[in-house]
Amino acid sequence: MKDIEALATSSPQWDKAHPYPARLAVRRELTTAASDKDVRHFELDLGDSGITWQPGDTVGVLVRNSTVLAEEILAACGVSAASIVADEHYSGPVITALEELRELTQVHPGFIKRYAACSSAAALGEIAANPTLMREYVASRQIVDVIKEYPATLTGEQLLSCLRQLMPRQYSIASSQRTRPLTIDLTINMVRYPQGDSWRYGAGSHYLGWQLEIGDPLPLYVVPNAGFRLPADDSIPVIMIGPGTGIAPFRAFLQERHARQARGPNWLFFGNPHRASDFLYGDELLTFAHEGILTQLDLAFSRDHAEKRYVQHLMFEQGEQFYAWLQQGAHVYVCGDAKHMAEDVQQALLAIIESQGGMDSTAARQYLVNLRKAGRYQRDVY
Ligand SMILES: Cc1cc2nc3c(=O)[nH]c(=O)nc-3n(C[C@H](O)[C@H](O)[C@H](O)COP(=O)(O)OP(=O)(O)OC[C@H]3O[C@@H](n4cnc5c(N)ncnc54)[C@H](O)[C@@H]3O)c2cc1C
Ligand SMILES: NC(=O)c1ccc[n+]([C@@H]2O[C@H](COP(=O)([O-])OP(=O)(O)OC[C@H]3O[C@@H](n4cnc5c(N)ncnc54)[C@H](OP(=O)(O)O)[C@@H]3O)[C@@H](O)[C@H]2O)c1
Repeated sequence: MKDIEALATSSPQWDKAHPYPARLAVRRELTTAASDKDVRHFELDLGDSGITWQPGDTVGVLVRNSTVLAEEILAACGVSAASIVADEHYSGPVITALEELRELTQVHPGFIKRYAACSSAAALGEIAANPTLMREYVASRQIVDVIKEYPATLTGEQLLSCLRQLMPRQYSIASSQRTRPLTIDLTINMVRYPQGDSWRYGAGSHYLGWQLEIGDPLPLYVVPNAGFRLPADDSIPVIMIGPGTGIAPFRAFLQERHARQARGPNWLFFGNPHRASDFLYGDELLTFAHEGILTQLDLAFSRDHAEKRYVQHLMFEQGEQFYAWLQQGAHVYVCGDAKHMAEDVQQALLAIIESQGGMDSTAARQYLVNLRKAGRYQRDVY
């Protein structure tokens, strides 16, 4: 097997414009049927790509939209799936453009404005003109929902002009190259929810979870994440806070620290709704803890208690030890939900620094700023 150094020196440049067709080797569930979530583990075979990555990096994955969804949108706009369209970037069947080139799930203000103009839907025009209404409206809908709510007959070119470019989906790499040099693991929450009498899927979720078969190629490229790196000095303590899919890069961190025989202690805070159904990589994490690679493992199963229990509650309960680790030079990492978790965890961090360090809020903020400037407080939140 090639070693990492050999791979690094031979690594060609795979990027968004030139993605590498990795093969889907493994796809298995990490949550059980009893869970409200559907989180899956993926293993992607890198073959002879020469791809290299560091723990903390992410991959960009080029996805295709569901044919059923593309046909549903075309039918709702009265465009024949067989029709040919042409604009300055593309000339060919309209269905192919919808499957491969255009965003069909995420609603954005530009789409609402353009579709309101093309469809002459006055009510949609009012929404488009009011940022507050717009925010509320786009939050709970996909593009097909908007089109069905405000049906209009469009030409293929008009429809394409409303839709923006399909973007790659990004996922944290959940494995260390030192453990398996030619395989990238991912941990993906499948976005799928009921809408009326059908299901709505996220584009990437549908492609990776339902469309791809084992052995199929998946075009990808590594996105380096220089702001989310393990300390070079292996004796430095590491604190990782990663509820939900936020666990992904920390699985890579733990594999890496293990492979490097890093002496520094590792502390992980993980959370998810229920231990019985949502303990992602539970066996592996317990083994890491048993073998001492994880010095400390704190688990917040939020819905196993009468009151919600989150990672930041466990951090605060162990504030004295947490602060002691900080004073010993620990690096702190946060990964997962940006909307609520990351801010709440930061507030808990500030509260720990204030109470354990005997500081007022200004001094605690400055302490955190200093941590960040020293690269000791790093976040990868989405
Ligand atoms: C740096 C980075 C790293 C990431 N790492 C990971 C990772 O390791 N694992 C992972 O699973 N994701 C990760 N993500 C998120 C991931 O990139 C996608 O955004 C996510 O998987 C949804 O993509 P999708 O194509 O399935 O859904 P989309 O097609 O993007 O979404 C479809 C629609 O569903 C809505 N929607 C999205 N999520 C939900 C939801 N939970 N419930 C209801 N509606 C929803 C959206 O608003 C949108 O309108 C990361 C994102 C970034 C930026
Ligand atoms: N933008 C997108 O398209 C997109 C797509 C997918 C995921 N995401 C984001 O990525 C996140 C990761 O998704 P996930 O399903 O793996 O996990 P998640 O929804 O973040 O849930 C993980 C755990 O965190 C708990 N939690 C909820 N609010 C919290 C808070 N304020 N502070 C701390 N913990 C909190 C949850 O508890 P409860 O659920 O019991 O409250 C659950 O136990 C999602 O939250 C989502 O916002 C975004």
